[in-house]
Amino acid sequence: MLQQFNQANRDIIININSKLLPRIEAGISPFDSVVQGGDAVWEGLRLYQGRIFKLNEHLDRLRSSAQALAFTDIPTNEYLTAEIKKTLAANKMADGVHIRLTLTRGVKNTSGMDPRLNTAGPTLIVLAEHKPPVYEKGGLTLITSSVRRFPPDCMDPKIHSCNLIQSILAKIEANVAGVDDALMLDKQGFVAETNATHIFIVDNNIVLTPHCSACPEGITRATVLDICQANKIPHQEKDLSLTEIYRADEMFCTGTMGELATISKVDGRTIGNGNIGKMTKRLSELYANLTANEGVQVV
Ligand SMILES: Cc1ncc(COP(=O)(O)O)c(C=O)c1O
Repeated sequence: MLQQFNQANRDIIININSKLLPRIEAGISPFDSVVQGGDAVWEGLRLYQGRIFKLNEHLDRLRSSAQALAFTDIPTNEYLTAEIKKTLAANKMADGVHIRLTLTRGVKNTSGMDPRLNTAGPTLIVLAEHKPPVYEKGGLTLITSSVRRFPPDCMDPKIHSCNLIQSILAKIEANVAGVDDALMLDKQGFVAETNATHIFIVDNNIVLTPHCSACPEGITRATVLDICQANKIPHQEKDLSLTEIYRADEMFCTGTMGELATISKVDGRTIGNGNIGKMTKRLSELYANLTANEGVQVV
C-alpha cells in the first residue's frame, strides 16, 4: 500500500507555532529537538463532517506522552484545539481530512540531545491534509517482521514519540517482500501490532487483541473494544502467538489513518477465507456509525 500524492494538498497552509505558512515556506529550525533527536510526540486525528473523532482522547494521549518525556510548557487542550481550528479554517477543510499534530521539545542553543540545551519550546506543528482513510478495504497482506517491538523497560510504547525507526525498518521489510505492511512481535514472540496499526483477530466469534504492553494505547483499538462491550460481542485482550493468527477466522487492523481494514494474508497464508469476514464487517459498520455521529465540532 503506497499512498499517492493528492493534488488537493499542493497549496495547503501549515501551522507552526501559531504562524500560518504555505506548504513551500513551512520549515523548522535545524536546532529543533525533533531534528536533533526525534525528541517529539505526535497524534494523528481524523476530521469527519466538521467534527474530529475522539479529539480529547488524542489530546490527552499527546499530553501524557509529552509529560513522560518531561516537556515543559505543554499547551492546554483548549490552545491545541484553537490552533487546529485556525488551521482547518485557513485551508477551508471540513471532511476527509487527516491532521498530524506534532509537539517537539523545542529549539536548542546548540546541537545535542541534552534537554538542558533547550532555550525555547515546545514547537507545535499542525499539518492538515486532504486524506480519506488510506487502507484498501478489500484485504491487506502482511509479513512478519524480524524487527521486534520494544517492551516498556526499553522504550515504553505508551510514549507516542516521533522516533519511528523501528516501524520504518519493518515497513522496508514489507516493501521488499511486496506486501502492504509488517506484523511485529514483542520480545517474547507474541504479536504486538503492525508497523502502523493495532491488530485484532476473530476466533470462534470472539474478538481478540493483544495487550497494550508492546504497542501504543490505540484510540481506534479502544473504540473497537468499547463497541464490543456496548453490543455484547464477546471480546478479550490476550497474548496472541503467530499460530493463533494463522488459524484465525478473521483478522483486521485498526488506526485513525485507515479505520478498520481486513487482513487477508499473513506470511503468504490466507486468513479465514481471505475476504472481509462477518464480524469485521459488523464492527466496521458500527465504527462508521460512531464517526458519523460523534466527535468534537471544529468547523
Ligand atoms: C505504532 C502505531 N500503532 C497503532 C496506531 C493506531 O493508533 P490510533 O488508533 O490511536 O490511531 C498508531 C497511530 O498513531 C501508531 O503510531
